[in-house]
Amino acid sequence: MDFFVADRLVKNFGGLRVLNETSLTVKEGTITGLVGPNGSGKTTFFHVVYGLLRPDAGEVYFRGEPITCLPAYRVYSKGLALAFQLPRLFSRLTVLDNLLLATGRRSGENFGTALFRRRHWQEEEIKLAEKARAVLELVELTPLALKPAGELSGGQRKLLEIGRALMADPVMLLLDEPAAGVNPVLGRKIYATLERLRREKRLTLLIIEHRLEMLLDHAQHVYLMDAGRIALAGEPARVLADPAFYKIYAGESRQWQS
Ligand SMILES: Nc1ncnc2c1ncn2[C@@H]1O[C@H](COP(=O)(O)OP(=O)(O)O)[C@@H](O)[C@H]1O
Ligand SMILES: [Mg+2]
Repeated sequence: MDFFVADRLVKNFGGLRVLNETSLTVKEGTITGLVGPNGSGKTTFFHVVYGLLRPDAGEVYFRGEPITCLPAYRVYSKGLALAFQLPRLFSRLTVLDNLLLATGRRSGENFGTALFRRRHWQEEEIKLAEKARAVLELVELTPLALKPAGELSGGQRKLLEIGRALMADPVMLLLDEPAAGVNPVLGRKIYATLERLRREKRLTLLIIEHRLEMLLDHAQHVYLMDAGRIALAGEPARVLADPAFYKIYAGESRQWQS
């Protein structure tokens, strides 16, 4: 079985079928793209996979194990992390504190046991701080560690959101439009960082992206979603060469004109 499998996911919002038997697979150690017009269901797909929304039908398997309907914190603890389209940061807290808070306190003891377990707790804190330091280096935010997150640029916030997801030591990352609203230079830097994570950390990445010119340089495989279904799949060059690709995106530009 593939590393990651979504099998015929269905999600309805009232009378609207947003995911219509969406199926896709991701191979370990690859960058896989998920593209499609606005409103085609991409973000909903991520939220269902990540346990933020319950599907009406279908299954999700991660490393051979069903994870359908697990709550998000369980999915996260299995090594699958999500970086949101709109970074979920605490803007008054520093960049570093945002990372330290990403994993949540694991021990969660009460006052009594905390006294006994103080040493253990301190060791955990040190490990966490060490991990945050390494993540800051990876996303190249070390010089901004003590800045409030609210003072970062849009692109830096995107990088911090990726860093937040990395604090879980994930083996697979879901990224929802990592380069949206970011200037081209920083966008390329974000993709260079993602490529490095794949190469050096053996991370598997599934990326929703509207900026095709950035994604397609890095992805090995692309899925095109249209109205909750996978309409096309394959290597980027093959998907781009398919007339159906343009028809689906042309539908979107008509939608904007009306
Ligand atoms: N919580 C929700 N309740 C009702 N409709 C929703 C909800 N979330 C998304 N939708 C609808 O589902 C469709 C797909 O949205 P979304 O998954 O955000 O698409 P994409 O990420 O591809 O732009 C849209 O028509 C959107 O309005
Ligand atoms: Mg979206």
